Amino acid sequence: MQELKTLSKEELEGLDVPKISTNLGNDQSKGKVYIESYGCQMNFADSEVVTSILMNHGYGTTDNIKEADTILLNTCAIRENAETKIRHRLQGFRALKSKNPLLNIGILGCMAERLKTKLIEEEKIVDLVAGPDAYRDLPNLLEQLTTEDKAINVFLSREETYGDIEPVRLHSNGVTAFVSIMRGCDNMCTFCVVPYTRGRERSRDVDSILFECEQLFNQGYREVTLLGQNVDSYKYEDVSTGQISSFANLLEKVALIHPNLRVRFSTSHPKDITDDVLHTMARFENICKNIHLPAQSGSNRILDLMKRTYTREWYIDRINSIRSILGDSCGISHDMIAGFCTETEEDHNETLSLMEYVQYDFGYMFSYSERPGTPAAKKYVDDIPEEVKKRRLAEIIEKQRFHSGIKNKQLIGSIQRVLVEGDSKKSSQHHYGKCDSGKVVVFPKQKEQKGDYVHVKIIQCTTGTLLGEITNI
Ligand code: SAH
Ligand code: SF4
Ligand code: F3S
Repeated sequence: MQELKTLSKEELEGLDVPKISTNLGNDQSKGKVYIESYGCQMNFADSEVVTSILMNHGYGTTDNIKEADTILLNTCAIRENAETKIRHRLQGFRALKSKNPLLNIGILGCMAERLKTKLIEEEKIVDLVAGPDAYRDLPNLLEQLTTEDKAINVFLSREETYGDIEPVRLHSNGVTAFVSIMRGCDNMCTFCVVPYTRGRERSRDVDSILFECEQLFNQGYREVTLLGQNVDSYKYEDVSTGQISSFANLLEKVALIHPNLRVRFSTSHPKDITDDVLHTMARFENICKNIHLPAQSGSNRILDLMKRTYTREWYIDRINSIRSILGDSCGISHDMIAGFCTETEEDHNETLSLMEYVQYDFGYMFSYSERPGTPAAKKYVDDIPEEVKKRRLAEIIEKQRFHSGIKNKQLIGSIQRVLVEGDSKKSSQHHYGKCDSGKVVVFPKQKEQKGDYVHVKIIQCTTGTLLGEITNI
């Protein structure tokens, strides 16, 4: 495979959309494809699989939308505004399509899966629709468009993991990479569209995950993030040996690849995260002490309505286990939803008090957005007024900012081991990287290169970043 050209920082900053495309300089006999990705890390990882599949079938890719023969949007459906963004983006393509009627416009990912043929009917400029399990079919679907108007495949599989496909790393810093270890989700959180857009949960085989991670290490990568909607329910049975691997087993195997390969993972589910996983993290220095443990709410009544299948007390017990096994320096982050159906001020205060108890390092916070077809949309009324949702969300965000500030300040004076990821966004005189617990650290450059580990003494901080300087220890 030919070497990839990644966009420079300046080129990237000049773009007003989340780009995940590049000039691959490959065989482009079947035309050039431009890909844009939205949504979670898994979607970005999927775009790398899509690129690989297309390149292996004679397609080239381009970062210049104007020279594309096909535009693909890899979409998200998690909240209404994620879909609104895509619809606006599609409207913006009308001018391109009228100039070039042969241009193909395709929708991939979760919104494609959720809306199926509706997207072709409603957004008249869409020619191709492919769901998250249909990417191997993309070359056929594109071929179909040479003779037909429309092409669609939204079949959801129980087996597809794309385990054998070597992702083409896009816009990579050459140091950190995402590795999908499973697909789909078997939980039925009532607010969530993912089980409908990504299908049943299935785990990728251990060998192909290890192969991909080893290859990344050999190519100079120094950090892998293992991805799944619920990594703790990873389970793979090797049919030839009958051996079953849990997430803790997999984590250990990845950590053993090399002490200089850092391992992170996301997302952990409070009902499934085991002490076994925590002990594995404790045993390996290269498994980063950083856990993303979405709570969604601090109220038992709301957690029950959400069908999260744990209570506030259970969640607190998991936090206590993390702290006792991994210590207070382990970074803990969360997802929280404000204004779920029937949420009272009392429920909301329970969320704030849970945050007060945990003192999270970081959080992703959202106001509830009803998704058609989900159990919540069918059974409950989305009855919290928008202004109340907004106010509660603002209070949650404010609390998080306060805690992030405290957490960062506590690190002033400490020495952190940082993996250098590249130039800081604001200054080419500075490098940036992450410390073990996942916080971004910025420091003046010395002789270190991207991919090196350095020790940085923390001197100052903002709510989002630690600032320091390299120290020899
Ligand atoms: N698998 C992960 C979450 C994946 S979706 C987990 O179980 O935690 C990422 C986040 O989006 C969720 O954690 C939730 O906080 C948020 N989210 C999902 N559906 C939502 C909705 N309908 N409205 C608002 N936020 C939502
Ligand atoms: Fe959605 Fe729940 Fe599955 Fe997470 S665990 S993807 S929130 S259904
Ligand atoms: Fe969005 Fe699908 Fe991810 S709905 S959050 S892109 S799994």
